Amino acid sequence: MCGIVGYVGPKSTQEILLGGLRRLEYRGYDSAGISVITNGGALETRKKAGKLDNLIAEITNHPLAPANIGIGHTRWATHGAPTDGNAHPHLGGPTSKLSLIHNGIIENFAELKAELVAAGTKFASETDSEVAAHLIAAEFEKTGDLVAAFGAVVKRLHGAFTILVIHQDAPDVVLAARCNAPLVVGLGDGENFLGSDVAAFVEHTKRAISVGQNQIVILHSNNVELRTFDGEPVVPEEFTVSWDASAASKGGWSSFMAKEIADQPQAVADTLMGRLASDGSVRLAEIDGLTEADIKAIDRIVMVACGTASYACDVAKYAIEKFSRIPVQVELAHEFRYRDPIITPNTLIVAVSQSGETMDTLMATRFAKEQGAKVLAICNTQGATLARESDAVIYTHAGPEVAVASTKALVAQMTAGYLLALFLGAGRGAVPAAELRSLGKELLKMPARVNKVLGRLDSIRALGKELSTAKSVLFLGRNVGFPVAMEGALKLKELAYIHAEGFAAGELKHGPIALIEEGQPVIVIVPSPRDADSLHPKVISNIQEIRARGARVIAIAEEGDAEVENYAEHVTYVPKSANIFSSILTVIPLQLFALELATAKGLDVDQPRNLAKSVTVE
Ligand code: F6R
Repeated sequence: MCGIVGYVGPKSTQEILLGGLRRLEYRGYDSAGISVITNGGALETRKKAGKLDNLIAEITNHPLAPANIGIGHTRWATHGAPTDGNAHPHLGGPTSKLSLIHNGIIENFAELKAELVAAGTKFASETDSEVAAHLIAAEFEKTGDLVAAFGAVVKRLHGAFTILVIHQDAPDVVLAARCNAPLVVGLGDGENFLGSDVAAFVEHTKRAISVGQNQIVILHSNNVELRTFDGEPVVPEEFTVSWDASAASKGGWSSFMAKEIADQPQAVADTLMGRLASDGSVRLAEIDGLTEADIKAIDRIVMVACGTASYACDVAKYAIEKFSRIPVQVELAHEFRYRDPIITPNTLIVAVSQSGETMDTLMATRFAKEQGAKVLAICNTQGATLARESDAVIYTHAGPEVAVASTKALVAQMTAGYLLALFLGAGRGAVPAAELRSLGKELLKMPARVNKVLGRLDSIRALGKELSTAKSVLFLGRNVGFPVAMEGALKLKELAYIHAEGFAAGELKHGPIALIEEGQPVIVIVPSPRDADSLHPKVISNIQEIRARGARVIAIAEEGDAEVENYAEHVTYVPKSANIFSSILTVIPLQLFALELATAKGLDVDQPRNLAKSVTVE
């Protein structure tokens, strides 16, 4: 789970590589490095442990000569601690003329390393990646053909990898190989790019090619060639990147996370655009292939995802079951894959992922496909592996999400889940069409409501600061408020490094209430009191129970719910909406709360410790 970038062309390679790494830093930030072949023909490398700024300082102190070809890497350590020596690129061969970067894990590196050590190779790092650098360099020494040497070695590697290589004796080409890790090509005019995702080059070009499994890319400034690992030519499939480059910059905000929270009305609106008509009817052209008969034949939906994306699935479950009466099971992808789950051809798998590269989610969907299930992806990243490998994709249009903690991608996933629920509802006919259309019209109002929530967050912001010394915060919710509570706790754990847990409010009395003691902050998502079958009175009772035991209750409630003020120390109101859609609104104060609390603790909210945005290993 590292970020990789490659470039060949007339511009300043150093600037292009560092700019690309800045955009990919969310993928890992333990160390970073670049190699270039200078216009004088020398291979030069700079690398440094720590964040990208350390590398930039190193380059400022030891400038690189002008170059028109190079590779860059930002690392999330797997093999070997995050030190200068273990930072990529790694050099190969006795004369160190080859430079290599790698994202992934080479599972058979120990046996390959033993072979090299026996032949007298000296290693400069503890990484698995350096093995590949030496093997390719040695093969090139034998044959003098870099492409052939590269192809021969990548076939010997097991595991997950994207590898990029440059060599001083072949100064006009970057070679890349992809196996179970992401790689995209950017096509420019007299220049070409490689990146872990399109964010690496979107400011330079929107023309892109996604690279398939077990394929090699031969990248020159005026030509890009794709081959399989067996040397067969591949016809590239070009696509246009819809992301706007400016969306991947902070634009004056204090952090990417703050900006991405503010982007949420747009993320919801863009995800609805073209899919929800003004009369409330849903059209999902992406899954036009699913006929009414196909929809009728679905007997179960299994939603697979990890982390925050799995909470979007939990929310979707409430909506899909309510609108379509199809049973939905939500599974953490890593658990699902390894427990011999029951899948039939009538099971629809819905895989949800912002990056589309989360290995656990990919493995779960591959497994389900092998069992004969159809896979529908909800994904935010064009050209991502999940999108390529699924039968159909509903893209969330949240734009690039750079902060490691997911915010706008989540509300876009929730939105896509609601659209899917309405679509399946219409296909199944379990709920009257007029009722579904009225819900559709309600969904259309959500971007404006999200905007309204953002304007009312000053007091939760202040509360985040006030509670910066809290050791633990609990979150309670029911129905769609339950996954929101889980998400609130996850945000706090990952950003502020404090104990936080989310519970279904009804579960409280079955154990967790024992945690409540004087002064314990508890954030409660209170459902709307307006529905006839509202759980509002039950949640108010829960609040009274914890208040009686000394909890400091912070409520997220619907505007007009005056009753809650009698029991909560603090209330943040969100606009009225159908309770089923309220998750899109109630999650926002929790994001802001975590952001403020972590900021007050002086923590880096965009790059929390130990995390990488896209987890491309199992
Ligand atoms: C938390 C967070 C993670 C991701 C999870 C899945 O803020 O971002 O929990 O949601 O790693 O990532 P994707 O959606 O890329 O599959």
